[in-house]
Amino acid sequence: MVGIYDRGKLGVAAADIDAASDGWLKALIKDGDVSSKPGRASVFAAPDGVKAKRIAVIGLGRAADFDAVQYRKAIGAAMAALLESKVRDIAIGLALEKVGGTPPYYLGRHTSEAIAASLYTFETLKTGAKQPRPRVRKITVAVNERGDANPLRLGAEHGVAIAEGAALTRDLGNLPANVCTPSYLAKTAKDLAKKHRNVQTRVLSEAEIKRLGMRTFLSVSSGTEEPPKLIVMQYRGAGKGAPIVLIGKGITFDAGGISLKPGPGMDEMKFDMCGAAAVMAALATAAALELPINVTAVVPSCENLPSGAATKPGDIIKSMSGQTVEILNTDAEGRLLLCDALTYARRFKPAAVIDVATLTGACVIALGHHRTAVMSEDDELACALIDAGIAAEDRGWRLPIAAEYAESLKSNFADFANVGGREGGAITAACFLGKFTKGMTWAHLDIAGTAWHAGPKKGASGRPVPMLVEFLLRRAGVLP
Ligand code: BES
Ligand code: ZN
Ligand code: MN
Repeated sequence: MVGIYDRGKLGVAAADIDAASDGWLKALIKDGDVSSKPGRASVFAAPDGVKAKRIAVIGLGRAADFDAVQYRKAIGAAMAALLESKVRDIAIGLALEKVGGTPPYYLGRHTSEAIAASLYTFETLKTGAKQPRPRVRKITVAVNERGDANPLRLGAEHGVAIAEGAALTRDLGNLPANVCTPSYLAKTAKDLAKKHRNVQTRVLSEAEIKRLGMRTFLSVSSGTEEPPKLIVMQYRGAGKGAPIVLIGKGITFDAGGISLKPGPGMDEMKFDMCGAAAVMAALATAAALELPINVTAVVPSCENLPSGAATKPGDIIKSMSGQTVEILNTDAEGRLLLCDALTYARRFKPAAVIDVATLTGACVIALGHHRTAVMSEDDELACALIDAGIAAEDRGWRLPIAAEYAESLKSNFADFANVGGREGGAITAACFLGKFTKGMTWAHLDIAGTAWHAGPKKGASGRPVPMLVEFLLRRAGVLP
């Protein structure tokens, strides 16, 4: 796998190939048989003088613009082109390039994450002639001689673990709601505890959730036959230290309840448990990497369906915290489970609490599909998450939380309502959660725009696992 830039500039490995083959690559460029456009890849039978069987030539665009995003795109495009043929061993020459100031460790991360993403498939539910997938056996990454090998190797190893976490998140998200139920998430959490040393999973039943007084959580579940679960995972890599608590929204299907959603696109509400999947996977990744920190994941999980037993608009429910909530819209259900989970999290005396949720359509309007919304009254925590997102190339963008916005949650009948107006919907949702986090160091990630892709490439993205794991790696202090 070699790259070429605009204006006939050859990448490092491309220049080697060209020299060994008597100008074969330069001739291809001159004849217009390869393109330097970013993401354009062509595979050729290798010329004489080169030991490889094939050469994948990938366009890298302008050398000055070649950054980590372009690098990942280039690897993805080249992998896609190579997987069209029966390739078994791949040698990647792109890590020899100057990638916009990306240090070797992160180059390793991006390399293995991009490769893993290109190999991801979700075809277990398709029957019939399975397309024979070429089995890639070995992938080698060429590195520079100036001491880059060790950090690059560490990054590549971490990248593999992160990619596994992202793949788990994608699998759980992609599974339909008739398979991926709260019980299925619970079973997955238990399996993860069996797989990883130092991970324990406890699953609380409806009766236990009731006994805890998590009434706003259960108010969401009342319209469905599917039993709700509260999943609690604990990874202990640092003895008695205060844990980072990750809370994930685990709505395995969100029909909106009595405030029923419109039909078109409703199938995508199977992805409403992507926050749950991401925090479970982030914890599992921390365990796989044996990070010297403690992480707890709390996942309230249920379905949100309409029925004769469902919660009605105007119903008032007392949360676990004791505060009463007027449920004006049963489709604003995520905050109703998260608020009780936040109250539950207090028992762990957390160093910090981060909730992750496909919480609001308003977040998608505000930030689109490229940035996860980061909201926190704690500047340090907000910046740590945003910085982690930049390093991991899984970016977030901060939105405010402030008292002015919380005013729209006023209720005439309860302590507050579960919805504000249409304006600033992602922020007022965070303000609602903020009523349950007093005294805790807390951040809220709204992943409504980033957790999955719609359209022809419909599917879960695995975000924000890279951001979360980067955050944990930094807390653990294990980065070079
Ligand atoms: N799960 C949805 C949020 C969502 C909608 C995510 C579309 C991604 C795409 C959430 O439960 C919801 O329905 N939120 C409502 C809140 C509103 C009623 C205040 C929304 O955003 O419309
Ligand atoms: Zn929802
Ligand atoms: Mn909803």
